[in-house]
Amino acid sequence: MLAVVGLALSVAIFATWTILLARLDDRMTAELGNEVQKLRNYADSALDPKTGSTVTGVQELLTKYLALNAPDQRETFFSIIDGRADKVPFKLPPVRLDTDEELVGRMATATRVIRDEMETTQGTVQYAVIPVSVAGDNRRGHFVVAIFYDQHRDEIVDAVRVLGLSALAAMGLAGVAGWLVAGQVLAPVRLVRQTAEQISDSSDLTRRLDVPGDDDVAALAGTFNHMLDRLEQAFVVQRHFMDDAGHELRTPITVIRGHLELMGDDPDDRAETLALVTDELERMNRIVDDLLTLAKAEQPGFLALDHVELADLTVSVVAKARALGERRWRVDEVAEARLPADRHRLTQALMQLVANAVRHTADDDLIAVGSAVRDGRVELWVRDSGPGVAPAERERIFGRFVRGAGRTGAHDGAGLGLAIVRSIAQAHGGNVKVTEAPGGGACFVMSLPLWELWRLH
Ligand SMILES: Nc1ncnc2c1ncn2[C@@H]1O[C@H](COP(=O)(O)OP(=O)(O)O)[C@@H](O)[C@H]1O
Ligand SMILES: [Mg+2]
Repeated sequence: MLAVVGLALSVAIFATWTILLARLDDRMTAELGNEVQKLRNYADSALDPKTGSTVTGVQELLTKYLALNAPDQRETFFSIIDGRADKVPFKLPPVRLDTDEELVGRMATATRVIRDEMETTQGTVQYAVIPVSVAGDNRRGHFVVAIFYDQHRDEIVDAVRVLGLSALAAMGLAGVAGWLVAGQVLAPVRLVRQTAEQISDSSDLTRRLDVPGDDDVAALAGTFNHMLDRLEQAFVVQRHFMDDAGHELRTPITVIRGHLELMGDDPDDRAETLALVTDELERMNRIVDDLLTLAKAEQPGFLALDHVELADLTVSVVAKARALGERRWRVDEVAEARLPADRHRLTQALMQLVANAVRHTADDDLIAVGSAVRDGRVELWVRDSGPGVAPAERERIFGRFVRGAGRTGAHDGAGLGLAIVRSIAQAHGGNVKVTEAPGGGACFVMSLPLWELWRLH
């Protein structure tokens, strides 16, 4: 930034310098021309008998002219009579040209106005030599006007130097001021960065940025804090999940180890232990499978979308479910619709719900599966005539490793089934909830938005 300003100023100063020099040249020319004209005017009036003038000779004419005209600063005049310097003005110039006889001799040869320049100890001097003659006087007169060009130029050099120095000073000041202002403006940003660094160094996600005010930096800090909130929350959830998973897997391992340590030599005893151990290992296997499904559900590419006939899906789930137990199986209703969805994941979810229903019912209880399109949403449900789910439990049971109060039997699941159902529903852009079935049992309903499914497709 400063470099750009510096460049612009240099260009401006250089342009000023060039323009002033060009003007100086013009002025010099004009000045010399002016002096010639002045002398000519004077001669005209002094030699005109009508004006009552008594000037008769060329020497007298030039001497009078010199007496009347004082040279300007950095300018000098003198007269030459017959090739010799005659009169100089009262005010002497810094360099005497009239004392240089050779120069004066050369000047005296001029027969018309000549202009030239020469080098002196005071730099370049521009001069004009004007030959003057008066009728009736045969002496040759010359009048010399000299201007000290370099002295005029030095004036410009001084002006440009002052200009350059003040530009430099202004730039320096601007630079310092800019640096100070930038430092002040960036201070909150630096604070944000330092705090963020400390947080990432210490992995302490409970820390927050404290930036007062309502400017952009404060808003940035707010966004950053919000992100930390979510990150912290995600870590807490993940840690709980890991704790729970570890705990769930440790239980079967402890059981297996206990049985193996106590195993005797008796073949019956061994067979029994083997059956128990196999059973526990299968349970572990199921938990690991479920955990993998849940982990996958959070990754992209979880769903393999296909066109799913809802009627087909509903009927085939009931057909598969019959093998799970003696129940009064029923298809409530089927939707004659086709939607893009993952057939295997939807079947997996419905089979989880059916397996739960079987576990919470007895022989001859009713279990019904149905599908329908209502208000632009696809609904898939499984209901039973079992004990149902208490209102207080209805949200909680969808959590990971959450088992309801009324569980029975030694081979209960790990409480991951409904969590998987929810993940599958959410992957399809929908949700799942449990309500009370008409007969008092549980009714689990997955609701999937049709538009969302089309969008996913
Ligand atoms: N059809 C149902 N009727 C009554 N309670 C149910 C039903 N399905 C699930 N539940 C309750 O929800 C809890 C969580 O179910 P789930 O996540 O499948 O875990 P799990 O089957 O391993 O216990 C069950 O422990 C149970 O208390
Ligand atoms: Mg279950």
